[in-house]
Amino acid sequence: MKGLILSGGKGTRLYPLTYTRAKQLIPVANKPVLVRVIEAIREAGVREVGIVVGPTAAEIQDALGDGSEWDVALSYIHQASPDGLAHAVKISQEFLDDDPFVMFLGDNVIEGGISSLIRDFADKQWNSQIVLKEVENPSEYGVAKMRSDGSIEQLIEKPKSPPSNLALVGIYMFDHHIFKAVNDIKPSARGEYEITDAIQWLIDQGYMVFPHIHRGWWIDTGKPTDMLEANSYVLEEITPCLHATAAIDSDSSVDSRVTLQAGAQIVNSIIRGPTIIGRDTLIENSYIGPFTSIYNGCQIRDCEIERSIILENSRVTNIDSTLRDSLIGRNASVKRSGSKPSGIKMNLGDHSTLWV
Ligand code: G1P
Repeated sequence: MKGLILSGGKGTRLYPLTYTRAKQLIPVANKPVLVRVIEAIREAGVREVGIVVGPTAAEIQDALGDGSEWDVALSYIHQASPDGLAHAVKISQEFLDDDPFVMFLGDNVIEGGISSLIRDFADKQWNSQIVLKEVENPSEYGVAKMRSDGSIEQLIEKPKSPPSNLALVGIYMFDHHIFKAVNDIKPSARGEYEITDAIQWLIDQGYMVFPHIHRGWWIDTGKPTDMLEANSYVLEEITPCLHATAAIDSDSSVDSRVTLQAGAQIVNSIIRGPTIIGRDTLIENSYIGPFTSIYNGCQIRDCEIERSIILENSRVTNIDSTLRDSLIGRNASVKRSGSKPSGIKMNLGDHSTLWV
């Protein structure tokens, strides 16, 4: 079994953060989503992993290298233009060869890993297994219609009148028959080679396609609100830990659901979990509330923060209202201005949003 991770997209709905960073590298609970995907695949016993990359290839390659840090062997497959998920499979044929494989969208976060799924697929004689989840807004996804024997009858990409509320989660398993499908289908109305069309091709040719219904949470991290939600879920899942080199002074209170990474310093502050404070980050005279991830090298002084994500090397200082539900990029600075005339000043990047 091999792994294939699709990581080509530009992440326009996460502007401005994704102007300067691949969206799959934005951390959730202080670990990039893409690394979480690699770890889920590795946990399932898969070591040979291909990553399909697009315009952000250099940055992704720089962050992941040959994969040895996660005990996987990574191969990079370049997709010249965003021509769809089935196109990504097509260009990965040489890497995948005739092996069965699990395909995972690099911006998806799912509860509980994928080991049980892979075991399921390995035990059966199916040609493909897809992961489905009941959702409230099926029109935004690929949607499945099932037969009474539990197999899939039809898949429709973003239907106006969905035949069910079962959406395709971005995790798929295939044997080599998928290559016949991706080489035979035509582009959809949105001009992409759709993986739903390729799976439908398998169904129409009489191949066996079965679902796995996922009951836990699943987040496709397209928008800032999705990142905050995924961050909350993952923070609840991780086992809290205080690194030996983290320091908490006697005026601070840090509860048992907090993770402090190497060199984190807590001075005269209250930290409520689930929360994670990154490497060499300083929190001083502040309150950090639940569901917050503050990444490496930040300085937070004289302020209150809840349910937020702050990326590396940013500074938040002396803010008198609570910062909540916020996503702050790298090297950002949020501070009180003492100078007159008073008022709110800003220096925001393109596509930024500020709520006052
Ligand atoms: C893709 C698939 C869709 C699936 C979704 C899951 O959609 O085409 O079937 O439900 O991922 O995230 P896209 O994100 O390309 O619009």
